[in-house]
Amino acid sequence: MKPKLIILGPPGSGKGTQARLLAEKFNLVHISTGDILRAAVDSGKVLGQEAKGYMDRGELVPDGVMLKVIREKLSEDETASGFIFDGFPRTIPQAEGLTSILGEMGINIYEVIKLKVSDDTLIKRLTGRLFCPKCGALFNLSFKPPKEDRLCEHCGAELKRRSDDSEEVIKNRLEVYRHRTGPIEDFYRLQYKLKEVDGEGDSSSVFEMILEVITIS
Ligand code: AP5
Ligand code: MG
Repeated sequence: MKPKLIILGPPGSGKGTQARLLAEKFNLVHISTGDILRAAVDSGKVLGQEAKGYMDRGELVPDGVMLKVIREKLSEDETASGFIFDGFPRTIPQAEGLTSILGEMGINIYEVIKLKVSDDTLIKRLTGRLFCPKCGALFNLSFKPPKEDRLCEHCGAELKRRSDDSEEVIKNRLEVYRHRTGPIEDFYRLQYKLKEVDGEGDSSSVFEMILEVITIS
């Protein structure tokens, strides 16, 4: 059976990086709510118009909006066999909502990976992040600089910075994580679903540690 996973951690902890590696290894659908919202903003969809202000400030988009997005995503056939959530759930109501949506689908067994990273490292990773708007590849000026200045190694597109990666917005995103997302760690810990992994090392050693703690394969 393919894994059903949730990856949890503060902004910059490496959720996107690790979710991509896991999705590739196990052939999972990667469901990143941040990516879904950014695509909706770029294409001018109503969802994007609703979300943009919250994202620019580093605040959370309302739970009702997010649960609707997830319900729609999970109704697509391909997701039923194996998926990894990245950036969702982010509040207790979202975690409760997800439990009932998955319950309706008969899915009760899944694992939650929490990446633990210090604030100093988070800030360094976020201020140095570059992403490829064409293929989604991630780079980092401090940790994984692109071989050619600001050009994607995979598809040649010009790399960009995320608009919420300014120092002021990063500070707010970290606060919001602590207050609103932190409590869901206990929500999953009490259900024995939470696997904590030290996310400070380089991405391949973090990936190896994740493979050691997940039990479904
Ligand atoms: P979202 O896109 O989910 O952003 P985030 O949670 O702030 O996390 P990031 O994507 O910034 O970091 P990451 O953990 O994925 O790290 P990454 O792998 O990129 O959400 C954005 C916004 O959308 C939210 O603020 C909110 O407004 C809204 N939103 C989204 N979901 C929502 C929800 N469910 N409810 C309500 N609102 C929602 O890595 C970062 C950098 O570090 C990269 O440059 C990478 O190359 C580098 N790096 C990664 N791992 C390592 C490593 N091990 N060593 C060295 N460098 C590394
Ligand atoms: Mg991400």
